[in-house]
Amino acid sequence: MIVGIVGLGYVGLPLAVALCEAGHEVVGVDTDPRRVAAVTAGASYVEDVSSERLIAVGDRLAASSQYAELAAAEVVIISVPTPLTRNREPDLGPLVSAGTALAAVLRRGQLVVLESTTFPGTTRERLTPLLEESGLAAGSDFAVAYSPERVDPGRTDYGLRNTPKVVAGLTPACLERAVEFYALVCDEVVRLSTLEAAELSKLLENVFRSVNIALVNELAVLCDRMGVDVWEVVDAAATKPYGFMRFNPGPGMGGHCLPVDPFYLSWRAREFEIPTAFVELAGEVNQRMPYFCVEKITRALNDRSKPVRGSRILVLGVAYKAGVGDTRESPALKIMHLLAERGAELAYHDEHVPEVAELALSHQPLDTALADCDLAVIVTAHAELDVPAVIEGAPILVDFRGVTRGIEAPNLLRL
Ligand SMILES: NC(=O)c1ccc[n+]([C@@H]2O[C@H](COP(=O)([O-])OP(=O)(O)OC[C@H]3O[C@@H](n4cnc5c(N)ncnc54)[C@H](O)[C@@H]3O)[C@@H](O)[C@H]2O)c1
Repeated sequence: MIVGIVGLGYVGLPLAVALCEAGHEVVGVDTDPRRVAAVTAGASYVEDVSSERLIAVGDRLAASSQYAELAAAEVVIISVPTPLTRNREPDLGPLVSAGTALAAVLRRGQLVVLESTTFPGTTRERLTPLLEESGLAAGSDFAVAYSPERVDPGRTDYGLRNTPKVVAGLTPACLERAVEFYALVCDEVVRLSTLEAAELSKLLENVFRSVNIALVNELAVLCDRMGVDVWEVVDAAATKPYGFMRFNPGPGMGGHCLPVDPFYLSWRAREFEIPTAFVELAGEVNQRMPYFCVEKITRALNDRSKPVRGSRILVLGVAYKAGVGDTRESPALKIMHLLAERGAELAYHDEHVPEVAELALSHQPLDTALADCDLAVIVTAHAELDVPAVIEGAPILVDFRGVTRGIEAPNLLRL
């Protein structure tokens, strides 16, 4: 089968490679010429896909900036970004331009599947009318479906094959087409009766995480005030074999999904005059965490009679989570900006992130950076971080990820 993928990012590229590895041909279209060139050269820019894997499927994977290349595809998957505007409202700009460009080359018989995370109603009310500008009728001339992507960057135990795939179609026939397609590469396909239910299921998954992270973060702030070790509390609760699901506190939420998706839901809910107070409160609690982290760093310096201004602070891990190089919405960046505003001299160590252009900083080797700092702070604990070396080398160490739990040292403080 020839599959087209629009948007070769964290979602589109791993999907393209997985489809090629399953024996299909993929034509990927991306508006970023650097990404097209990188895929063509077999140079991966997504951690979950090694360049070796990309090269190995080179004869079945073609990348282009031309939508016309999608003409040969039987199925076209759209995985473009769904970000927020400056006013924190859904920005369907990339999706609208992808839909418009696709309509110009759409042909009879194709199946178009949207995989981007979005509010309920997007596929039916926004994407389908754009595709119908082609003059073809959705549901009869071409099929439309929605199937949320569940990729978890950095995770190796669950991939396309063994993660159940939720699918819904514009019509029962569209659903059957989509189920037939995904069954080629997924062990379990979960059928939903409406596009809106499928769109909402993805938002529920992400809002569920956001709310639970907010709950433990609120508890962490309380524990800090009470002098109780929040990690011990969470570890203890997690020994219950039923009725409790573990979430860890941390410096805040990052990435392209959790800080963004709840706004898609609350924006749509406003139209129905239902306030999503729970969802918004979770966002607020999580957004406050970087401020709390800066306060904790300030207190740690103060205890050594040091002000933030002029102190050399080393940030360990600036990606939004362990194992990836993605810094989008990373709480580390927020913490760094707040510290810089207060006059701190910043450095960072993160082998996954060569540079942070907005702060004119680049990754520093651990040993020299430790030797040069007044305080080090673990914001994102990549697996490779040498925690004993950090405890040994930092004059003061603040750990916001709990990787030092169980260890007591005079220079060590934890969330
Ligand atoms: N990253 C994740 O972990 C994850 C997980 C599940 C779902 N999602 C959702 O999947 C979607 C894509 O996310 P991502 O992380 O892959 O984004 P990304 O920014 O990594 O990749 C999107 C790609 O689309 C390209 N693009 C933008 N506009 C385009 C257009 N008009 N035509 C063609 N290409 C275009 C961009 O250049 C980019 O390469 C989002 O809706 C996101 O919420 C992401």
